[in-house]
Amino acid sequence: MHLKKYLMTALAFAPASLFAFSAGPPPLRTGAPADGGLACNACHRGADLNSDPRGRLFIQTIADYKPGVRQTIKVTLTHPDAMRWGFQLTARFASDPTRKAGTFAPNDAIRVRCADGTENNCGAQTEFVEHNSTWTAPGQRGGQEWEFEWTPPAVGGGEVIFYVAGNAANNSNTNAGDLIYTTSSRVNEDGACRLTATPTITSIKHAGTLLEGALAFNTLASIEGTGLTATGAVNNGTDNINGNKLPSKLGCVAVEVDGQRAPIYYSQFNQINIQIPTTGKTGDVQAVVIANPGQSNEIRSRPATIRLAAAAPGFIRLLPTPCILAVFPDGSISGDPSLFSYVKGAKAGDTLHLYLTGLGETTPIYQAGEIAPADAVRATGAITVELNGTAIPASDVLFAGLAENWVSGLNRITIRIPNANLRPNAHNEVRVRIGTDILSPAGSTLYISPN
Ligand code: HEC
Repeated sequence: MHLKKYLMTALAFAPASLFAFSAGPPPLRTGAPADGGLACNACHRGADLNSDPRGRLFIQTIADYKPGVRQTIKVTLTHPDAMRWGFQLTARFASDPTRKAGTFAPNDAIRVRCADGTENNCGAQTEFVEHNSTWTAPGQRGGQEWEFEWTPPAVGGGEVIFYVAGNAANNSNTNAGDLIYTTSSRVNEDGACRLTATPTITSIKHAGTLLEGALAFNTLASIEGTGLTATGAVNNGTDNINGNKLPSKLGCVAVEVDGQRAPIYYSQFNQINIQIPTTGKTGDVQAVVIANPGQSNEIRSRPATIRLAAAAPGFIRLLPTPCILAVFPDGSISGDPSLFSYVKGAKAGDTLHLYLTGLGETTPIYQAGEIAPADAVRATGAITVELNGTAIPASDVLFAGLAENWVSGLNRITIRIPNANLRPNAHNEVRVRIGTDILSPAGSTLYISPN
């Protein structure tokens, strides 16, 4: 698993009257790799790109575009402290990201600039939508949204990638102290899915335990089978985040659990990773994989049964080892150093973030597919952590809830390792208990080094 979290002073600037950048930054600064990858931080250099996790930038579109039919696109930028806002977005063909995909219409909130800096009617030049000065909302706290119309390309355009950069600024009228974010989002052409194989499900496993057992709402799960997307294709849901949510169709495949679409975070021909929808149900429900969903050539798999429980905790592991994916506060990874060179054992007194899924209800509840905020969202269950069969003191369980800025199915438990019941130079078993009866399976470990 890739944990994204592992994650100059300001340029001397010309007088605002000369350039008035806040009225519109120069084009080609969305971070699109095909344009050289530059973003606003080419000048707004106060902080590293995407470095402040409290900010969020996302694009919202209709999931599949209808060729030539206008649709509204919304860009949202939020940050709790920022006080002025700007953005720039461009649309490109996934098959050739140097080429523009469709055209934008100017309005009060935004301007349309061409690659050479001129405005509107860009012809074959690439186009950039960006804030105009009044919609930077000087003094406005919390965030800003911009809406505009996009006319998608003609039939046969295929997948389109939007690249966007945003500036959560401090309203200083300078390029100092601002926070720059970039992201991208892919949309497909409606009706373009042409999978021919009938999907089959051979197993549905908990993404942590890798066992076919109970799952809970919002748990991350892995479906194995055949025909789960085109052969050779690898699709990441994080490339398709739309409106700050994971997609409910990826690689031309959708999954229904009890009739509800499940968010998908990964797919390849024999595996599709989903999040169980947020449902109040427990007991047996049916899951179906659907190729070309919503199209006339839709193909549904035979249903498979999933057993839903109120919670189904299971640690994510550093495969192929039994070690839990656990991270020290400085970002280094815990594990058995005889198995991986880049990990280190944990010691009594260390603080460790343990990653798992299936922890059950939180306050507030985040829907499946939603990205958890940077603030602590706690689990509501009575959670104990057992080390070698003995519960560690409650005061050593520092947090249990959602992992920040990740899809709402990823949980984090932060513990301080007590100086009791430890077996040094060995794998020490860790289990999590919710209430009295719900216990994560045996076999997940922390490797403990001597103090
Ligand atoms: C070529 C350098 C340059 C680039 C690239 C650039 N800016 Fe700026 N920007 C400036 C300068 C200089 C200022 C301050 C003067 C002004 O407001 O015009 C500024 C000011 C701003 C402000 C107001 C800041 C505040 O705190 O009041 C916003 C908002 C802004 N830019 C947005 C953007 C966005 C969004 C991008 C990327 C898409 C971007 N800028 C790219 C130079 C740049």
